[in-house]
Amino acid sequence: MAEIVRIANIAAHVGEQVTLEGWLQLKTGKGKLQFLRVRDGTGFIQAVIFKPNVSEEVFEAAKRMPLESSLIITGNVKADERAPGVPGGFELDVTDLTVVQESEEYPIAPKEHGVEFLMDNRHLWLRSSRQWAILRVRARIIRAMRDWLDDNGFILVDTPILTPSAAEGTTTLFKTDFHGEDAFLAQTGQLYNEANIFAFGRVYCFGPTFRAEKSKTRRHLQEFWMVEPEIAYCKLEQLLEIEEQYVSYIVQTILKECAAELKLLERDTTHLERVVAPFYRISYDDAVQMINKAAGEGVTVPPNDDPLPPIEWGGDFGSPHETFVASQFDKPVFVHHYPSAVKAFYMEPEPGRHEVCRSADLLAPEGYGEIIGGSERMSDPELLLAAIDRHGLPREAYQWYIDLRRYGSVPHSGFGLGVERTVAWICGLDHIRETIAFPRMLGRLRP
Ligand code: 4AD
Ligand code: MG
Repeated sequence: MAEIVRIANIAAHVGEQVTLEGWLQLKTGKGKLQFLRVRDGTGFIQAVIFKPNVSEEVFEAAKRMPLESSLIITGNVKADERAPGVPGGFELDVTDLTVVQESEEYPIAPKEHGVEFLMDNRHLWLRSSRQWAILRVRARIIRAMRDWLDDNGFILVDTPILTPSAAEGTTTLFKTDFHGEDAFLAQTGQLYNEANIFAFGRVYCFGPTFRAEKSKTRRHLQEFWMVEPEIAYCKLEQLLEIEEQYVSYIVQTILKECAAELKLLERDTTHLERVVAPFYRISYDDAVQMINKAAGEGVTVPPNDDPLPPIEWGGDFGSPHETFVASQFDKPVFVHHYPSAVKAFYMEPEPGRHEVCRSADLLAPEGYGEIIGGSERMSDPELLLAAIDRHGLPREAYQWYIDLRRYGSVPHSGFGLGVERTVAWICGLDHIRETIAFPRMLGRLRP
């Protein structure tokens, strides 16, 4: 057997004999020729079996072999510009082949299947080139998210998943039993991050978060991953500058490093190329005016070209509102100073105008909606106590959080960037379900 090589490294082996370990993804052939598309997890390549070059048994085995059979294949690497694959441009001239397991008839044929069927077979669907490309982009996005923070003075401090109280509102908690006491799956690590900044200055947490949201939309998961940076001595204005640097870095890194995956996904990258700081900023007040003017003119919004509904000042934006506002700009846009009443209890009110808070959501272009939620946090213990009472939250549960405002309180701010919404946007996906290996959605806990 020749040296075992992974397809991602195939370029270094042109003219050599190599062995690949993988699976059969596609097969065509006629007469003395068989064309196998072999996948090994790092890429895929066309392997050509020419009858005179292999034994009779090998040729027959290849002919019989069903899709998704596992195989070990040896051959000579040829450079050929037109050869399909990732990385494209190489072909394997097969000399030997061992079938590790002849697959049973594979339920996902290379034809159109319904979404529910594919979701029920998610454990198999993951092998398709498209899902492979998406999940590789996801992994690279997560690496970029962490690299930037690690390189810019942030320290990773992990926050708990089992928590005793709500942080983002009591209606979306998953309750569990902690030895007879109620515990909840974390909706955010933010409150703990706020404790951690007093020890480390700039921190972030990265992990799964849980929201028992009753929304069955293209943008909502019950379990999603979020990166949450938190910064001491930081006001809202400075926070937005950090966010736009951060998102620009992530997008530009993916354009550079995941070109093959984006091509496979047929992603038009025109919009993404423009994602370079600075981004736009619009106040909630101005956004409401913009929406109502357009609604009055009968403007419609994608994906279904429904009429844009008007909005009363004080209401939260629905997804048509976000889509419309974002469509008015050629880069991501921050909507800042939302009404305090529609946001979480911890947000700093605007001095002299307490009905709005020092918050900002970042809206992605092309209808992808909110990808970041962030704000300046309340730094005054009395204001915070009043907010906790106003939201009907139990004071005792938040005693430790109020403490943070009693011992060296400082202005501080932070944000949360959702991994799955970022993946959907960068990959250009219609639905968030493809952005994570095993999505947890309303009505979907399996496989
Ligand atoms: O706006 P959210 O709820 O903000 C927070 O949780 C803050 N504690 C973050 C912080 O300031 N540290 O959520 C932040 C982001 C959203 O912009 C979105 O990208 C994502 O998390 N997100 C979801 N993604 C998928 N499914 C859901 N149900 C999501 N809810 C929020
Ligand atoms: Mg939000």
